[in-house]
Amino acid sequence: MHAITVRPETAEDIRAIDVVHISAFGGEAEAHLVDELRKSSAYNRELSLVAELGGRIVGHVLLTRVPLRREGSEKHVLALGPMSVVPSQSHRGIGSELINASVNLAKQKGYGAIVVLGHPEYYKRFGFVQAKDVQVTCNLPAPEDALTLREIVDGNLAGGGHVEYPEQFVALY
Ligand SMILES: CC(C)(COP(=O)(O)OP(=O)(O)OC[C@H]1O[C@@H](n2cnc3c(N)ncnc32)[C@H](O)[C@@H]1OP(=O)(O)O)[C@@H](O)C(=O)NCCC(=O)NCCS
Repeated sequence: MHAITVRPETAEDIRAIDVVHISAFGGEAEAHLVDELRKSSAYNRELSLVAELGGRIVGHVLLTRVPLRREGSEKHVLALGPMSVVPSQSHRGIGSELINASVNLAKQKGYGAIVVLGHPEYYKRFGFVQAKDVQVTCNLPAPEDALTLREIVDGNLAGGGHVEYPEQFVALY
């Protein structure tokens, strides 16, 4: 039994990352989003994590630095996603490892919070709470309940704010 390694992506991983997203999401939209972001200034290779198992890429999560604005101020938080694990390796904790690694990376890089648009039930177990409960909104036309967040620094999101995802995400929705 091989151990899971989570590490930043390299140029050699790009094709495998596409395959992970296409197989997990059952379509090309998320892989396309990652490829578009990779060409943009929003992209930072250190914030793109792969899960490797026995030399094979089996999972990927992308973190993007995004502005969170409120009247008179702006800060940056990390937006988590897309994230996926190949169906043949799901339910083995790989998704959990990717989220835990994301939280650790956010701490290491000094970010105060992580936001995520996705299945709220899944993220709840990792300490993510409903964004609407702390007056945080975003520019994507997704259901309000789908936006969740986790403070890395307690109180970081006090007062709420509006998260601006880059235009590549807007095109996906
Ligand atoms: C969601 C996903 C990343 C989870 O990866 P994983 O490696 O299977 O996750 P873990 O093994 O750490 O956790 C599995 C648990 O997640 C929960 N889970 C998985 N998908 C879920 C969902 N859509 N909603 C709520 N809970 C979910 C299940 O309770 C599961 O528990 P079980 O193994 O006891 O059945 C993976 O299923 C995936 O790639 N799905 C398709 C793409 C996707 O939806 N990505 C997330 C977008 S927000």
